[in-house]
Amino acid sequence: MAFAAGVCAQPLTISTAWFKAGDSKEWSNPQIDDSAWKTLDVSRTWDSQGIPSSTKFGWYRMHFTPTKAMLEQSDLKEVIEFDLGTIDDVDEVYLNGKLIGKTGNMPGDTGAYAAMFYVPRKYTVPVNDKNIKWDADNVLAVRCYSDNAPGGMFGGNVKINVPSRIDGCTLSFSETDSTNKPSYSVSLNNTYKSPVSGTLKLEITDAETGKVISNIEKKISARDGKPAIITLPYDRSKCLRIKAQFTEAKSGKTISGNYTPKYILTPEAPAAPRFNTAPVYGVRPGSPIHFRFGVSGDRPMKITSPDLPAGLEINPENGALSGSLAKEGDYTFTVVATNDKGEASQQFTIKVGNRIALTPPMGWNSWNCWGLSVSQDKVMASAQALIDKGLADYGYAYINVDDAWEAPARNADGTIAVNEKFPDMKALGDWLHERGLKFGIYSSPGDYTCGGYLGSLDHEKQDAETYNSWGVDYLKYDWCGYVHKHVNEADKKTVASYVRPYLLMEGYLREQPRDIFYSLCQYGMEDVWKWGDFVDANSWRTTGDITDTWESMYDIGFVQQADLYPYAHPGGWNDPDMLIVGKVGWSNNLRDSRLTPDEQYTHISLWSLLAANMLIGCDLAQLDDFTINLLCNNEVNAVNQDILGKQAKRDVEDGDIQIWSRPLSDGSRAIGIFNVGTEDKTVNLKDYMGTLGLKNLKSIRDLWRQKDLPTDDTSYLVLPHGVKFIKVTE
Ligand code: GLA
Repeated sequence: MAFAAGVCAQPLTISTAWFKAGDSKEWSNPQIDDSAWKTLDVSRTWDSQGIPSSTKFGWYRMHFTPTKAMLEQSDLKEVIEFDLGTIDDVDEVYLNGKLIGKTGNMPGDTGAYAAMFYVPRKYTVPVNDKNIKWDADNVLAVRCYSDNAPGGMFGGNVKINVPSRIDGCTLSFSETDSTNKPSYSVSLNNTYKSPVSGTLKLEITDAETGKVISNIEKKISARDGKPAIITLPYDRSKCLRIKAQFTEAKSGKTISGNYTPKYILTPEAPAAPRFNTAPVYGVRPGSPIHFRFGVSGDRPMKITSPDLPAGLEINPENGALSGSLAKEGDYTFTVVATNDKGEASQQFTIKVGNRIALTPPMGWNSWNCWGLSVSQDKVMASAQALIDKGLADYGYAYINVDDAWEAPARNADGTIAVNEKFPDMKALGDWLHERGLKFGIYSSPGDYTCGGYLGSLDHEKQDAETYNSWGVDYLKYDWCGYVHKHVNEADKKTVASYVRPYLLMEGYLREQPRDIFYSLCQYGMEDVWKWGDFVDANSWRTTGDITDTWESMYDIGFVQQADLYPYAHPGGWNDPDMLIVGKVGWSNNLRDSRLTPDEQYTHISLWSLLAANMLIGCDLAQLDDFTINLLCNNEVNAVNQDILGKQAKRDVEDGDIQIWSRPLSDGSRAIGIFNVGTEDKTVNLKDYMGTLGLKNLKSIRDLWRQKDLPTDDTSYLVLPHGVKFIKVTE
């Protein structure tokens, strides 16, 4: 039979199920004969097991025997729990023919269709429910709907359990964003009705010195909907480690968890002006320039130039540079910023030629926060926050609208139309340009985008012209729907058939009288990094979509970029996808990034080393101090924006230690020492000097703390999933 069942061991684990594609309410009936159905692994999507990707509906059936012994083992005896992992996209679950749970909304249901492929599926039934057959065969039937591939159950074996009190308990941690009095909270949550009580012990350590700061012990109790919460103030400049352990009074069973509250490494910017952006900018002859000098410091500030080339203008209030230069060549001039605290100046060169994007693009994209719920108002709120919260002073300039701005049908003349969420694209473009920001948009070479909106297929020329008329500066061109039109089987085997749609659009973009950053998004197919230059792309996505977990960021950042360093250069960058810091959610429901603070330091350090596109994916209107500290460290960003444009190489892979380094234009080297494991590591740089090709150490700079480090003591504690990010001169 296609199921595995322990006799009394908890939980019961089911790794395979009977499966049938299609849909019939009858299939929830425990009596029907499913023995001729297919056998599928429940931990992998159906597409990976030979079920056609076009399958919309499918049913899984699992037979299992819950035993009285399981019931007896539980000190709670409240519910039987079904943990189904995750399901792509919507499911309904029946126990012996009776509906016990549902996540998402299928077509045909009341209300709008809602996919929920990322939500863990855990359903419970009271143990006294007459529908459960103890010590006999029961049938769990799962009806799944998948809108597009992949589909079905995934994310682990199915587990069936009669939980004990402690199983309903979790420890969770959170913190307030308040700048003046930061605090964090430890909560004991209990998902079951019966209350639990016991003792919570907290050990608080300074993670950088290893010193225990305090020990706390408290009696607490929690019931469903009423967690026990302990709130403690802390110093944000310290990296703390909180070890929490709860011991349940009746059973003596324990649960524990570790937590590091957000900590801030970036020193506060000086009140006097400071230039934070790369000193070069590439533009094609005659193209309009939209650029903003990134200068931090108190406002009001005046930004001017004594020797500005003819044809250019600076708005002294916001540092927005505009105008155009018709002739090829390098135009170098001085920019001066003054406020009541002082003055700073920078030599700046505009390189008029055939190359744009001389450093990786910095800015914002709507996808990782708003997903398909993006609107013009939301875009403008983030753009305004980019200015108000000072991010524009650090070079963040692109404001990119991702999918879901398109209307369901084109205009009568075939031009693309906007939907009601975007009342006026031209006005949006003008509004951004007045502020020295840049305007980005999204489309697909296919008939439809990934989100099911209209793509550019057969309208490429018209769309490029429309983008020009709106003042678009960046196009993300996303393969997705092109898969339906991807010529024929023989052609699909050629690289040329992957290049073709990108080359086509490139031709039309280049006909426009403005520079449009060309961002390829086709997830790295056919080694796009080898031919991105050929289609004159400015960046190319090298992987599938990122999400806000360590696993995703690790796979995309550490595993998949390791061999790509030879392909990045000024004008053409590897793009490992957008940043997953701050409040993200791919919908109207935003949450704090699930990356720990150390994982976020790793993320930004690695993306800087990789010369990656720095497109912030969170709602900037809800930016907290911690995220600002991550995004606005001028020394860290300077590595990303270094004008040599060399992507880091992984020089060392030694167990959980990875060292990535890149040469910088001033002759120094940026080095990231990463600990990808889950235990503290002490790493001595001197042990790797040979492998890194370093002969001697003249200076070492801690880039996050912006502080010089001694050259005679190069031993560093690197926290789990954390980084020591340094710049070294020889
Ligand atoms: C794909 C891309 C994402 C995003 C969505 C929009 O998944 O990889 O970055 O643009 O499409 O639908």
